[in-house]
Amino acid sequence: MTISPELETYISAHKQNFLEDLISWLRIPSISTLSEYGSDVAKAAEYAAEQLRQIGMERVDVLQTQGHPLVYAEWLKASGKPTVLFYGHYDVQPVDPISLWQSPPFEPSIRDGQIFARGAADDKGQVLLVFKALEALMQIDKTLPVNIKVLIEGEEEHGSKAVEHYIKTYPERLGCDVALICDTHMPAKDLPALIYGLRGMIYTEVEVQGAKGDLHSGTYGGIAPNPLHALAIIIGRLKDVDGHIHIPGLFDKLRQPTDAEKVFWREDPLGVGEAMRKEMGVEELSGEQEYPPLERATARPTLEVHGIVGGFVDEGAKTVIPATAKAKISLRLPPDLESSEVSTLFEKAVQSFAPSDVKVTVHNLDRGEGLLISPETPPMKAATAALAEIYGKTPVFVREGGSIPISALFDEVLHVPVVLMGFGLPDDNLHAPNEKFDLDQFYNGVRAVASFLQKLAE
Ligand code: BES
Ligand code: MN
Ligand code: MN
Repeated sequence: MTISPELETYISAHKQNFLEDLISWLRIPSISTLSEYGSDVAKAAEYAAEQLRQIGMERVDVLQTQGHPLVYAEWLKASGKPTVLFYGHYDVQPVDPISLWQSPPFEPSIRDGQIFARGAADDKGQVLLVFKALEALMQIDKTLPVNIKVLIEGEEEHGSKAVEHYIKTYPERLGCDVALICDTHMPAKDLPALIYGLRGMIYTEVEVQGAKGDLHSGTYGGIAPNPLHALAIIIGRLKDVDGHIHIPGLFDKLRQPTDAEKVFWREDPLGVGEAMRKEMGVEELSGEQEYPPLERATARPTLEVHGIVGGFVDEGAKTVIPATAKAKISLRLPPDLESSEVSTLFEKAVQSFAPSDVKVTVHNLDRGEGLLISPETPPMKAATAALAEIYGKTPVFVREGGSIPISALFDEVLHVPVVLMGFGLPDDNLHAPNEKFDLDQFYNGVRAVASFLQKLAE
């Protein structure tokens, strides 16, 4: 089976227009975590709203919030047909270190069939492919096969506070039968995937205070507390040299994987572990060696240190004992490990590992719950069929190690199945220099989403 000739004709004929719109959107530096980009974030929201108006969506609205705006739109004229809520984000990660980019992050550059720019795959490219699928369907049929609600946020990379508040306050406005998210990737260009699990997370800042000011390490060395060293001790005790996390209670609620999962992870028929090792350019894979790499990367809890600041790092030597030190530490949480419970366990563990001569404070910056999705629902079957049609191969069902904090709310608050159909690739450099999106994936994404919506209506 292939997609309808009308759809294919429209998509093939408009590739260049789709690409131009993607380039224009990628030019807007909508970095949500840096306040100096506030007006660009707003511009990116307006751009999304304008796209939705041109498609013929109704009630297109840029909703102001306590944080960055939400973009909402709907089209509800397919009476008797299911309603799909499409969620995505138009905000992007910061670009540092800028010197490692081969072309400037906000001047999209096409090389080898890939478009390089911050946000190309995460998530503007993947949001736009859904808009273009809607456009194509609307243009060929003057109608849509299903009802559509669109909710695009501008702070997914920054905690998703506004959209969380919106969903919890107005669940009835978002009433739907299925949620669609295109913000994940597939294992390879010729191997479509549907994601059936995401990890949740907590992201914290651990602050250590020693003396009331910096001290001479000759005069005070031997009797002064050293917050940097204390931090190293705490971090070393949280996770040991074999990759085992030592937070009492953390594993209590961890769900046992199914036998099929265990076999799939152990056999790793797609060779994902080895591919990821090569991608990283390392000799060996880190972590809990008694679990297969795939399980470690998608279904085990993790603890990672993202940055440490403190003390003296400039040129030359300065014999100082710093008064404070800070570390950013996060944990990825497989479904069932609830973020608020883990925050409490984490803080207790940190306090118990801290040397008694320093004062430690734990700040919680971000959090989100994980998600497990049943592959048996009608929307998942429609998604499977749509991907098989476009890629000529049945999609694999895999878990993703990353987090989309809001996805769990669609399950918990709206009680609808979530379809995670993403078109990124493992080497898209998300959050890193030289982020890119493969253009074949972009156009195949348009085809697959259009076909998915048609199949949902059947
Ligand atoms: N699109 C990603 C999630 C993702 C990551 C999917 C890797 C597939 C592969 C999303 O934008 C993201 O980066 N989420 C953050 C959430 C955090 C900022 C709360 C993450 O996973 O770090
Ligand atoms: Mn994303
Ligand atoms: Mn991201």
